[in-house]
Amino acid sequence: MESKSKLNVVVFKRLLSYWKTYKRLFVIAVLCTILLAFIGPARPLIIGQMVSKYIAKGQDANMLLIWTLIIGGALILEALFQFLASYFANLFAQSIIRDLRKKLVGKILTFRMQFFDKTPIGALVTRVVSDLEAITEVFSSGLMNIAGDLLSVFVVIVAMFVLDWQLAILTLTPIPILIFATRIFARVIRGTLKQEQKAVTALNTFVQERLTGVSLVQLFNREDKEFQSFKKINKNHLKAHINAVWAYSIFFPIVELLSSLSIALMLVWCAFSMKGASTEEISNRFGQVVTFTLWVYMLYRPIRQLADKFNILQRGTVRAERVFEILDREDQIQNDGEIVDCDFNKTIKFDSVSFAYTDEDWVLKDISLDIEPGSTVAFVGATGAGKSTIVNLLGRFYEFQKGEIRLGAIDLKSLELHYLRKNISIVLQDVFLFSDSILNNITLSDPNISKEQVIEAAKAVGVHEFINQLPEGYETQVGERGGVLSVGQRQLLAFIRAYVYNPHILILDEATSSVDNELEELIQNATNKLTKGRTSIVIAHRLSTIQSADKIVVLEKGEIVENGTHKELMQLGGYYKTLHEMQFSED
Ligand SMILES: Nc1ncnc2c1ncn2[C@@H]1O[C@H](COP(=O)(O)OP(=O)(O)OP(=O)(O)O)[C@@H](O)[C@H]1O
Ligand SMILES: [Mg+2]
Repeated sequence: MESKSKLNVVVFKRLLSYWKTYKRLFVIAVLCTILLAFIGPARPLIIGQMVSKYIAKGQDANMLLIWTLIIGGALILEALFQFLASYFANLFAQSIIRDLRKKLVGKILTFRMQFFDKTPIGALVTRVVSDLEAITEVFSSGLMNIAGDLLSVFVVIVAMFVLDWQLAILTLTPIPILIFATRIFARVIRGTLKQEQKAVTALNTFVQERLTGVSLVQLFNREDKEFQSFKKINKNHLKAHINAVWAYSIFFPIVELLSSLSIALMLVWCAFSMKGASTEEISNRFGQVVTFTLWVYMLYRPIRQLADKFNILQRGTVRAERVFEILDREDQIQNDGEIVDCDFNKTIKFDSVSFAYTDEDWVLKDISLDIEPGSTVAFVGATGAGKSTIVNLLGRFYEFQKGEIRLGAIDLKSLELHYLRKNISIVLQDVFLFSDSILNNITLSDPNISKEQVIEAAKAVGVHEFINQLPEGYETQVGERGGVLSVGQRQLLAFIRAYVYNPHILILDEATSSVDNELEELIQNATNKLTKGRTSIVIAHRLSTIQSADKIVVLEKGEIVENGTHKELMQLGGYYKTLHEMQFSED
């Protein structure tokens, strides 16, 4: 992607248009850069003057001191403006990126689940972190430096011609060679940078994956094998870097050589032209040589860096294209519902609902079902039957293609999305915890929920004792994704979360993994507490949990095959009875 050799002008222009959001910072940075482009080349001129007038002739010690002070002052001024230019350019760039990042993350958070099903999280992380970093460089070191460098090169060249046009032409003779070499270098370095980036990505991905799955690696004795693969990737990484180093280590000496050539040409020319000159002329020449020598370096350094700087612009533009793609994307669940106040004590009615995650691959087929207010409905069925999918539809995380879900007489889609979700609590099958304390994981850092409320909820659900037993109670850190806790324990925390939010509709999607008897009892009690007097949907894997449910719905391959109370279904002697007998004979 980064190999496109032309700049995408449309994207580049769009990127540049962001300067308007921080006009003042931009103007200050530009002014400092412009001043710097003039102050820099002025110093050699002053030094040259000093050499001609006071050093070559070696008379006035006082004046020499004064001129030295002036040069010192110029140096300090230059340093000051260098600092200001770089400070404001970076502040300008970071401010733009901060806004962009805010917009980007805000946008990503609104996307519907389908987007996340298709997009690897790693890619999104790359957008938010390293892509934006590359864009920052466009504004901080890319643009400003190129502009500043070009300006100072221009100033130096003009000054050279004004001071002595013959000397100027002589000094500039090697420049075409330099430009030619720079172009070749730019092409080579672009290729190696691409290689380098690929190698870094490969290394990152490998290390991250193997470390995340380190228990799997050890479990299957893969340490040696994985280490061998790693050695290969590591070697490629080295190779890619060395290639880049090669390009640099050839190019830089060439630049040095050319600048020395400039100086040599100038010296030879001066030596010849000074034959038979007066002392006055000779001391003038002396000063000029010093000035030109210093200018030569001011000329070569920026031209040498131009190739690098142009790469920065190009890379930033390619990355910006990917970031803009996300910013322009409209991939939210439709939210045109306007109802923000309604009675949730109504029957939830599924009316011939059919749904497919992709195309015509129907996961739910023609589901019709009534869930009475205040009742508990349980779903059972084999893995992949579509139980969790029903939850996804009720929370409107996915749009269903056919049929209707109603709350009383109201279509679910005419409820405002956030209002709907506020009134439904879902305990997901796969409980996600942030790497934070237990308390913050329960409240989700909502300041409106006090610790007292949480403790009260934990007591009600019957989990308070368990949390208190942990080393730091409610302040215990749960580790990344809650790794410190067992699956069942994580689910209990999610129960408290659901209880604290006190929803009208509660959905529990039981974790599949089996838990020990003590935990099972806790979960059972918590479930009873939570579902009491509330419209509840319980997806159960252990049938013992749901015997008292008001209605049990058996799903098979996305269809309702049986529907009734525990007693009715046992009498029916179908799928449910078989399942029940299987489970209880296991125990
Ligand atoms: N995000 C998704 N994108 C595409 N297909 C999906 C997605 N989530 C689930 N499916 C598919 O839909 C079907 C139903 O999945 P679902 O998660 O509803 O099953 P389940 O009944 O909850 O199973 P389990 O008891 O294992 O939790 C499965 O075939 C699954 O492969
Ligand atoms: Mg499921």
